[in-house]
Amino acid sequence: MAFLEVAGITKRFGGLVALNAVSFSVEKGEIVGIIGPNGAGKTTLFGVISGFIPPSEGTVHFDGAAIGSLRPDQLVRCGLMRSFQIVQTFADMTALDVVTTAALTRRPMREAVDYAAHALERVGLGPKLEATPATLSLQDKKLLEIAKCIATDPRCILLDEVMAGLTMAETAAPMAVIRELNTQGVTIVMVEHVMPVIMRLATRIVVINFGEKIAEGTPEDIIRDQRVVDAYFGDHVDA
Ligand SMILES: Nc1ncnc2c1ncn2[C@@H]1O[C@H](COP(=O)(O)OP(=O)(O)OP(=O)(O)O)[C@@H](O)[C@H]1O
Ligand SMILES: [Mg+2]
Repeated sequence: MAFLEVAGITKRFGGLVALNAVSFSVEKGEIVGIIGPNGAGKTTLFGVISGFIPPSEGTVHFDGAAIGSLRPDQLVRCGLMRSFQIVQTFADMTALDVVTTAALTRRPMREAVDYAAHALERVGLGPKLEATPATLSLQDKKLLEIAKCIATDPRCILLDEVMAGLTMAETAAPMAVIRELNTQGVTIVMVEHVMPVIMRLATRIVVINFGEKIAEGTPEDIIRDQRVVDAYFGDHVDA
């Protein structure tokens, strides 16, 4: 069994089938990209894997264990952490407070603050420990999301659009951090709309459309796949 094994995940919200029998697996040490048009079900898929959303059907295994009934905090202690597409923070907390909260899932208070500061330094936010997240630029907010993940000592992280809204120049810093984490053994699964980023980072890409997996392969395979081109550009492409 693979390090992360997603098998037959279906999620219904009332009459809406947000995910329909989605299966894929991720080996230890990979960087897997998940792409698909808006509303395809990518965030819902991360919600299911990370224990926030109970699936209607299907199973998820992480490192050989069935994790379907575990809560998000229990999964974090197993080494499976996610970021959030919509960055939400508490107004009166500093960047260090936010990341310390994440570090506390795995460490006692006396170690958590130092570990959080270290995580912030790793993403380049060392000079901004005392900044409140609301005052941070979008790029720094995204780096803060990654620092929260790092502070939990993850073995696998699910990153939901950590590059969205950034200029190509601004993506360089988070890309370098992700590469470095991966080099150190962290398995990465990332939802990303920014194609040049996913093409450069991912070893493999899974494509979701209307809740179904429509393709899977190397970045080179995926950009040549007609189903993928159709899903993204549909009728809007002039013949
Ligand atoms: N809690 C919910 N209740 C009802 N419908 C939901 C819920 N969460 C998501 N959906 C619906 O499920 C579908 C998939 O949404 P999801 O957020 O997973 O898409 P996505 O691929 O992440 O899109 P985007 O690229 O815009 O982030 C959408 O039609 C969405 O409206
Ligand atoms: Mg989403």
